[in-house]
Amino acid sequence: MINRVLVTGGAGFVGSHACKALARAGYVPITFDNLERGHEWAVKWGPLERGDLRDEKDLQRAFEAWRPSAVMHFAAYAYVGESTAEPAKYYDINVGGTAKLLKACAAFGCDKIVFSSSCATYGIPERLPLREDDAQAPVNPYGYTKLVVERMLKEAEAAHGIRHMVLRYFNAAGADPDGELGEMHEPETHLVPLVLFAAMGRLPSIKIFGDDYATPDGTCIRDYVHVSDLADAHVGAIDRLAKGGPSDTFNLGNGHGFSVAEVVRAGERIAGREVRSEIWPRREGDPPRLVSDSNKARELLNWQPRFPGLDEQMGHAWEWFRDRMPKGASR
Ligand code: UFG
Repeated sequence: MINRVLVTGGAGFVGSHACKALARAGYVPITFDNLERGHEWAVKWGPLERGDLRDEKDLQRAFEAWRPSAVMHFAAYAYVGESTAEPAKYYDINVGGTAKLLKACAAFGCDKIVFSSSCATYGIPERLPLREDDAQAPVNPYGYTKLVVERMLKEAEAAHGIRHMVLRYFNAAGADPDGELGEMHEPETHLVPLVLFAAMGRLPSIKIFGDDYATPDGTCIRDYVHVSDLADAHVGAIDRLAKGGPSDTFNLGNGHGFSVAEVVRAGERIAGREVRSEIWPRREGDPPRLVSDSNKARELLNWQPRFPGLDEQMGHAWEWFRDRMPKGASR
């Protein structure tokens, strides 16, 4: 029986929603976070252990205090653009930090881990929708760091018997439908929040990075998946490990691609006002299209996304941001 789960990055966007889902399912989520990019207000469903993955003493303290029987590992830097500008920083935390975490798992006999991987590990797909056994050839350092960790997990299983679930998210979006949690990145670089900020008047316009891709309207296509649906999949994954299930890898997306221009139009529908956009050059490291085949997760994790539609995802994010709009911005 797994009860206490150490959630690295539990104060972040996806991690905090996973803590809520874990608590609902009867687990005790213990957040391990250095609060560099996460938020203390987002830790509501269990204790917070403030610590850094790169500091073995911090990890030892947390494992000694809580003796978790499983880990959910979200803590990482996760900006594709930043990873191309500062790659070493990404390897330091995403790879180096994970090495220390796995060392601690082995030392404390914690033999189950659910890992936040990414569709960025595939690079530029040879075919769509992407399946778990498709080739992985990342086109940015962020994607490489996640691929290296996938490999490290296989090696940790062979060496120490630590079973893993690798969850490759497509584009996380939305917010907790109860309004208790949502996205709060500093700086914000993701498309969905920026479109909504432009709709609220917090930004004058949205930059579209490239309109000359080989897609129907020339802008990049992504598969957006609700953050609460991602959280549910994590609970499915940990349940499967708890029942003795084998290590495995799952894509998490809805199987529908939306272009950047379509996301802008969805923002206009949700907000009921125009979102101005400007065409900018392509952003380095962006694959033209990423769309998921997530049938395996539906089958084996019993995963049934509750909010597969882009408008409902953006609607939840809109409510979250609207209620937290700085004074002076127009509604
Ligand atoms: N985009 C714009 N303008 C912006 C921001 C984004 O045109 O101001 C475009 C991007 O070029 C991309 C799409 O909108 O084509 C989505 O961009 P996001 O930054 O919202 O998301 P990414 O697809 O780059 O990144 C997300 C996650 C990563 C994950 C990656 C996989 O943040 O963790 O998906 O591609 F690895």
